[in-house]
Amino acid sequence: PNGARVPVLVIGTGYGGSVAALRLAQAGVDVHMVEMGMTWDTPGSDGKIFSGMRSPDYRAYWLRTRTKQPLSNFLGFPIDKDVPRYTGILDAEDFGGILVYQGRGVGGGSLVNGGMAVTPKRSRFSSVLPSVNADEMYNVYYPRANAGLGVNEIDRAWFDTTDCYQYARVGRKHAQRSGFEFVYVPNVYDFNYMKQEAAGAVPKSALNAEILYGNNYGKKSLQKTYLAQAKATGRVAISAQHRVTSVSPASGGGYTVAIEQIDTTGAVVATKTVTAGRVFFAAGSVGTSKLLVKLKATGALPNLNGEIGKGWGDNGNVMVGRANHLWDPTGSLQSGMPTGGIDNWDAGGAFAEVAPLPTGIETYASFYLSITNTPHRAQFSWNASAGRVDLDWQTAWKQSSIDMAKSIFDKINSKEGTIYRTDLFGTYKIWGDHLTYHPLGGAVLNKATDNYGRLHGHPGLYAIDGSLIPGNTSVNPFVTITALAERNIEKIIATDL
Ligand code: FDA
Repeated sequence: PNGARVPVLVIGTGYGGSVAALRLAQAGVDVHMVEMGMTWDTPGSDGKIFSGMRSPDYRAYWLRTRTKQPLSNFLGFPIDKDVPRYTGILDAEDFGGILVYQGRGVGGGSLVNGGMAVTPKRSRFSSVLPSVNADEMYNVYYPRANAGLGVNEIDRAWFDTTDCYQYARVGRKHAQRSGFEFVYVPNVYDFNYMKQEAAGAVPKSALNAEILYGNNYGKKSLQKTYLAQAKATGRVAISAQHRVTSVSPASGGGYTVAIEQIDTTGAVVATKTVTAGRVFFAAGSVGTSKLLVKLKATGALPNLNGEIGKGWGDNGNVMVGRANHLWDPTGSLQSGMPTGGIDNWDAGGAFAEVAPLPTGIETYASFYLSITNTPHRAQFSWNASAGRVDLDWQTAWKQSSIDMAKSIFDKINSKEGTIYRTDLFGTYKIWGDHLTYHPLGGAVLNKATDNYGRLHGHPGLYAIDGSLIPGNTSVNPFVTITALAERNIEKIIATDL
């Protein structure tokens, strides 16, 4: 409520925020979480909470009047369509040089992501987070994160036979024939539920193309894991459809947090202020960076250091499709949850997830989202005349990611005698190089913060989300975000409270 005083306020309800809230509550601290997106607990008139991927409706996009599908075309035809403006679940935030996809709602990115729960190879960890003790991460915090997230692995015998992973088996075959390592990737989607879907025993979700715009059944999003546990403590309150706009030192100690309550059209219906003893920035890499850059530049938090807004990367994301021969169909039924990848990181700088293309018809296409070892880092800055935060990402920077992805796919194409698809991202456009699903950095650990996420210059302020990670994790990021948050909050509880 307006004017309230709370011991701890957490901005955002994604991975970092959910870990912080649960562990603080278990330590006996009352926590108030503020989330600009919706609660996503009430079915629409079709009986479902989330809209499917084949027919995105008003629930699909954050305050857009037209969909902005990552794959904009199919068989050469544009597939975007008009939708009513609504506080939908997926934000396609346009920074000029790059489109950054993010989840909006209680659960953050866990609502919209592919559930791939990947722990980086230990040998690569020191290049991801050089100041963090790898022994502690791999002995304590990665296992804790995997347990808390409900990560599970596919039954290999089922993988080898089920129709819905034919696309992944084709991906495996092509990878291995070209001499690449194919790795099975754990997921937070309940694979036992998926088996029952395949058997026709339960309502379909992964097998009904429910990715990107929310998952109605089998995925263990944060609402079912960390946030459910946090609420069960009785110490965590969540205000959805509330957006934090400012944090500044309060005269009597602590911080004054300014908050706008919004309706489903995005209109502001109330403004509130709360005083918080401590504030955790967990608004995601982009959300946290935008707030901190603005608050430093406008003088609300003048003592933040010069590292704020720096070290932002796209995890080297680039997408591509390959056209298979007629004897290599990928299947008309494709599970929306990927469970395999091609690892060519050490030799070529790319880790490619074998992704679904769940159109419902046979496309003979193999589709991949690559994570690459891109060297490029962008910076957020305050644009005073426009009153917004800009990001100086250059479109040409994707070329190095394309080159690294080609270390895998040029070889596979040459071995298989196949070609790239040119119809998925426009007309005669091969690479999906305009976007990222994995924004990282902007308040980098041990630079903008100390080695545990305490923001320099303002005691009691913390960053605890993807903004801490400098641009790349070598694999899909949410397990690392969760594990780092587990590590940092343990230290903060032990020493700051
Ligand atoms: P996260 O973005 O999860 O949460 C931040 C929250 O803060 C959001 O709910 C946001 O609405 C809220 N917020 C922002 N600003 C605010 C403000 N001012 N006031 C109040 N609230 C505010 N990763 C992976 O490991 N495996 C995968 O398979 C995938 N797949 C994937 C697919 C797609 C389509 C996307 C978009 C992303 C993925 N990811 C992924 C990435 C993964 O989802 C992402 O890295 C994490 O969600 C980031 O977690 P954070 O805790 O940093 O923030």
